[in-house]
Amino acid sequence: MIDKIKQHIKEAQAFTTEDKTTLEEFRIKYLGSKGLLKDFFAEFKNVPNEQKKEFGQVINELKNTAEEKVKSIQELLESKTESINLFGDLSRPGTPINIGSRHPISLVKNQILDVFSTIGFNVSEGPEIEDDWHNFTALNLPEYHPARDMQDTFFIQTNPDVLLRTHTSSVQVRYMENNKPPIRTISPGRVFRNEAISSRSHCIFHQVEGLYIDKNVSFADLKQTLLYFTKEMFGKSKIRLRPSYFPFTEPSAEVDIYWGLKTETDYRITKGTGWLEIMGCGMVDPNVLKNCGIDPNEYTGYAFGMGIERIAMLLYQIGDIRMFYENDVRFLEQFKSSL
Ligand code: PHE
Repeated sequence: MIDKIKQHIKEAQAFTTEDKTTLEEFRIKYLGSKGLLKDFFAEFKNVPNEQKKEFGQVINELKNTAEEKVKSIQELLESKTESINLFGDLSRPGTPINIGSRHPISLVKNQILDVFSTIGFNVSEGPEIEDDWHNFTALNLPEYHPARDMQDTFFIQTNPDVLLRTHTSSVQVRYMENNKPPIRTISPGRVFRNEAISSRSHCIFHQVEGLYIDKNVSFADLKQTLLYFTKEMFGKSKIRLRPSYFPFTEPSAEVDIYWGLKTETDYRITKGTGWLEIMGCGMVDPNVLKNCGIDPNEYTGYAFGMGIERIAMLLYQIGDIRMFYENDVRFLEQFKSSL
């Protein structure tokens, strides 16, 4: 019998609950008017005399244990109810905060800006709605210049003087008009061209253009800067410059980087050549310097421009440019771990 009571003491000690009904059941089981303790006390008279003392002690211990247990759990539950009333239920799990991510275009843009700011370029920005002078004429593209066709332009209303900029070279014009050389500036921004939308091209995209003007700036400086950029940005150390044409630069070149031919993707994106075109560049045409109030006999400069989407597609292996603008969270969430 004594062992049985001791067993009950152990059980009562181990008992715990967060629920009022269960606690009440526990109380009734031990302390109720038909409870175990009542039975044990009734048993007292049948216990042999020599065991009475120990028997008395254990039932008292059981009684105390059960009473204390009920009291302490009751207090705990009451304090909980109090805090629920005051602050809501503090024990409830929190609502998860959905952390956003930077858009891949911003990620790549920031990366490009970082590379150039370490070598002394500052960042300049300008309006997306431009006039003809800053987007075309100052850049050596006078009216009726055939090269205007290279960039199908969106005009605003019927006024041919107001348009959506087709490149951020317009920002460079503004910068040259307002600053004296030496100029080292990089101009990121959104640009617009009236092009058919496909997996490779879109009518809205982003560019980063760079401009460096000082005394004795040479083509070798341009080449070295671009080599530095491709090493930092892509970890590739081989580039080539192919002669090209832009109205605002002379000579002009197209820059390719050697991507390599290690994987099947390399074959596909480089069309089996290993080379990838990433930007246009050249020495700023003396006419452009003149148009912007800089003396071409004293200063020379280089400029370059690249599409951010194209570079982001290369870095993240994105097959369709339209994914950048769909705002599909399943796509965007993949860039969460990037800075
Ligand atoms: N502005 C040119 C474009 O949009 C890129 C470029 C910039 C080329 C500077 C040469 C020099 O295609």
